[in-house]
Amino acid sequence: MKKTKAAVFASGTGSNFQAIMEADDLPIEVALLVCDKPGATVIKKGEQFDVPVLNFEPKAYASKAIYEQKLIEELDKAGVEWIFLAGYMRIVGTDLLGAFEGRIVNIHPSLLPAFPGKNAIGQAHQAGVDTTGVTVHFIDEGIDTGPIIAQESVELFPEDTEEMLKKRIQQVEHNLYPAVIRQLLDQNT
Ligand code: GRF
Repeated sequence: MKKTKAAVFASGTGSNFQAIMEADDLPIEVALLVCDKPGATVIKKGEQFDVPVLNFEPKAYASKAIYEQKLIEELDKAGVEWIFLAGYMRIVGTDLLGAFEGRIVNIHPSLLPAFPGKNAIGQAHQAGVDTTGVTVHFIDEGIDTGPIIAQESVELFPEDTEEMLKKRIQQVEHNLYPAVIRQLLDQNT
């Protein structure tokens, strides 16, 4: 099976990156890990899995348009066709969106449109809802607003701490993201 080259963008611990790398028979080869935070744990994971890491510091560039142009060049050089965001904490700008139209996907730890933005797990926990979950969606210019591809619910129990809830959400994420990648790429090849 010929694998499609993809990039994962991540700024944090990289548990979703790891789940993607460890998933069986994914139709993608992760050709680049893009990280905007020097020292992020995910960088070590990239090295462990022998994935080239592009660690860029946005503040070293005069504008978003300039660093996105640089990113586009690097993605092209690596032959990347799809981008999977996994804890990338930056809004994707119009240049990158335009260059990868319909091929940038994000995972978010809530049932969107509920609890968009930062700390979605904490938001759900504080709101005391009985169900939250995980959403995988295409990216648009908003914050967690693009077309939804898949969602899975996670129940909240009265005794749940935020940490307990986070663990269950992550378990769902680590299965759902690879499953959606498989489904998307099967449709597009
Ligand atoms: C995940 O909860 C993902 O849904 C959100 O950021 C978190 C990243 O976690 N967008 P990790 O770095 O993959 O562990």
